[in-house]
Amino acid sequence: MLRLGLIGYPIAHSLSPWIHTRLMKDQQMEGTYELFEIDPENFKTEIVELKAKNLDGFNVTVPYKERIIEYLDDIDEAARFLGAVNTVKVKDGKWIGYNTDGIGYVTSIENRYPDTLKETSKVLILGSGGAARGIYYSFLQRGVRRVDVANRTVAKADQMISELKGGDFSQPLSIEEAEHNIDNYDIVVQTSSVGMSPNDQQSIVSVSRNLRGALFSDIVYRPKMTVFLTQAQSMGADLHFGYEMLLHQAIYAFKIWTGTNPETENIMKDFERKLE
Ligand code: ATR
Repeated sequence: MLRLGLIGYPIAHSLSPWIHTRLMKDQQMEGTYELFEIDPENFKTEIVELKAKNLDGFNVTVPYKERIIEYLDDIDEAARFLGAVNTVKVKDGKWIGYNTDGIGYVTSIENRYPDTLKETSKVLILGSGGAARGIYYSFLQRGVRRVDVANRTVAKADQMISELKGGDFSQPLSIEEAEHNIDNYDIVVQTSSVGMSPNDQQSIVSVSRNLRGALFSDIVYRPKMTVFLTQAQSMGADLHFGYEMLLHQAIYAFKIWTGTNPETENIMKDFERKLE
């Protein structure tokens, strides 16, 4: 009997229980995926209580991806480098931290558009928060050399590129510069919260150039079709959706916990339907 769960605050509307319950069913594994909503004021006590529950693994979401690190017994290299953990595997009572956000993102692109991502691809990331860091790191790990980052606060984009060792080819940009050059990229990834429900009438950039042949991606999944993606589609771009990343980061966590290799096609279709 597998015992999984999620810690974060707030998490009542999380889609993770649906995903992991489905993955367990597909793998014919008995188990549960519980929500542990932890008030930031009680974090320490509740983490001690969580240790005593003897789970097999759990996910970590906002605002605890950094704060969990001091309670781990070991940490995977990518998670250590990023300073953020979204998955904990419990092995012989020991907590081991991983980060599946970035690898989940890149896997979801490769799954849907197998020939698009190349080492020579020119990539632009919009935003430089926690989500952008994981995605940036995974593009570099995948061998992509040119990954520019545009942010409202350009200094933060600059800092992220140097911290994550983005190399000489990657540039920090202002949002205006990115908007002006948006048709120069093969892949553009929107990672900010702009466009997320209830502010879903907004887009971080205005997209009004010919984008045929480019892939535009938004990690926001509520709504599924953001203003950013709607504009990109009208200019001819191919689209990649936030729910695809969400599903693949979860599948990657499930693989870490169980050692299984779940089939993704049917679950992706059902997940998309669930979000409509
Ligand atoms: P997460 O960890 O979920 O990625 P975050 O760390 O809060 O979220 O980062 C949010 C990102 O969205 C940042 O890049 C932020 O830009 P700043 O660094 O300049 O704050 C960006 N962002 C949020 N609201 C924005 C807005 N209204 N316009 C432009 N960028 C915005």
